[in-house]
Amino acid sequence: MKDTIDQVRKQINDFVIDSSLSLEAFRIQFLGSKGVMKELYSLLKLVPNDEKRIIGLLLNDLRSEVEAKIELEKQNFLQLGVLDKSIDLTKSGEDAAIGSHHPLTLVKREIISIFSRIGFTISEGPEIEDDWHNFSALNFPEEHPARDMQDTFFIEKGEKEMALRTHTSSVQVRVMENSKPPIRTISPGRVYRNEAISARAHCFFHQLEGLFIDKNVSFADLKQTLLFFAREMFGEKAQIRLRPSYFPFTEPSAEVDVSCTLCNSNGCNVCKYSGWLEILGCGMVDPSVLEASGIDSKIYSGFAFGMGIERIAQLKYRVTDLRLYSENDIRFLNQFKAVI
Ligand code: PHE
Repeated sequence: MKDTIDQVRKQINDFVIDSSLSLEAFRIQFLGSKGVMKELYSLLKLVPNDEKRIIGLLLNDLRSEVEAKIELEKQNFLQLGVLDKSIDLTKSGEDAAIGSHHPLTLVKREIISIFSRIGFTISEGPEIEDDWHNFSALNFPEEHPARDMQDTFFIEKGEKEMALRTHTSSVQVRVMENSKPPIRTISPGRVYRNEAISARAHCFFHQLEGLFIDKNVSFADLKQTLLFFAREMFGEKAQIRLRPSYFPFTEPSAEVDVSCTLCNSNGCNVCKYSGWLEILGCGMVDPSVLEASGIDSKIYSGFAFGMGIERIAQLKYRVTDLRLYSENDIRFLNQFKAVI
């Protein structure tokens, strides 16, 4: 019997209690109504009479040891404040997963910051636009082929046919209608065009357009403003080049290239070995556009420009497939973590 008691003592000591569940299992195993202690006590009757007292005392001691172990572990759990020792409270915390800003947001903010430093305010307008603000006020006569330059999504809204704006120039019309010169504003926003989705085109993208109207605004002001922008955005050494172009709402109009900062204009596959990258369209606001919005074109003149935010982001982050911007692929978005 004494050997049995020693064996049980060893079992008791070896029993690992590391959670509230194992503590309960321990209690049931040794003190439960069908437990080990019960069984040992039932064996007492087989013990010779003269040994009964001493074995009984030994069993009582053993039971006290079980009770003491249970009590001790309970206290341990209370002290740790947990019911599971496998939770290591000394372990340092894990980093909380922080989100990141979308690359287009980052680039948009950077462009906004550059223009706000030279006095441009931000204006916004609706994405569902009427014909007047998206086209007519901007000198696109009805049936004029220039409207085909921008494949438009038309939608019905009540009686009226509306369009998803094809450019944020529509916002500038609203600004001209609602405020008096001097006007110095930029309009960032999403625009829509009915294009097949590919690496180089999408049915929606983002623009940031600028408008400056005051007395005596000249083409030189436009050029200098854009040079300032290019140098702030692409570095001090950036050069710009203007090529004649056509937009219905500006005259003269130009397309602007920035010197390729990736290859120092030596020629690479991004600039297609030309040394130049096209980044925006611009021009002097056509007097008829000023008049359409109630601004006297004999007193005021102005310039406007517009760029695609995706295009600038492409040059900044070398994103070559436009679709990546809207696919929400976490592997793509995660790469912008460091630039919050
Ligand atoms: N609105 C033009 C576009 O969407 C860009 C532009 C803006 C060009 C202002 C000239 C002046 O393509």
